[in-house]
Amino acid sequence: MEENFIENNNNNTDHVRKMLLESGYSDTAVSYYIDKPYMGILENPDQVTEMVGTCGDTMKVYLKVAGGNVEKVRYQVLGCPGAVSAAMAAVELVEGKTLAQAKLLDDGDIFRVLKDIPGKKHHCIQLAVKALHKALDEYENDSGC
Ligand code: FES
Repeated sequence: MEENFIENNNNNTDHVRKMLLESGYSDTAVSYYIDKPYMGILENPDQVTEMVGTCGDTMKVYLKVAGGNVEKVRYQVLGCPGAVSAAMAAVELVEGKTLAQAKLLDDGDIFRVLKDIPGKKHHCIQLAVKALHKALDEYENDSGC
C-alpha cells in the first residue's frame, strides 16, 4: 500500500514537471518549484513581512539578520509556480550577503538564475523581489539600522 502511495507521488511529480516544462519553465525553475528548498517559516525571526501582488497572490518573507548580514530567509507563498521558483532563487541569491548587498537584488538577477519562465509570469518575479525589499526596509526601519 505504502509503495503504491510513493509511486503515485512520483508519477504526480513527473506529471507536474512535464506540464511546467511544456509551459515554458526552465528545468531550474521547475526544480525550485517542486523541491521548495526555502519554503516555510523561521522560528524567532527578526522580521516578518507580507506582500500581496497585483494578481492577488501573497508572499510572506521571514528574515534572520546577524551582524549586518542576511543570515537566513524563508518564504511562504500562496501563489503560482513562477512565484515559488522566483522566491526560492531570491533566497539563494541573498543569504549570506550584507543588508546593503541584498537590497541590490533585482528582477534581472532572478531571471539569470531561473533562465526561463513564461512571459506572463514575469510579474511573479517582481513580487518575490518587492516582498524581499519590503522586508529589508521594514527590518532597517524597525531596528534603526
Ligand atoms: Fe500571482 Fe504568479 S500569478 S504571483
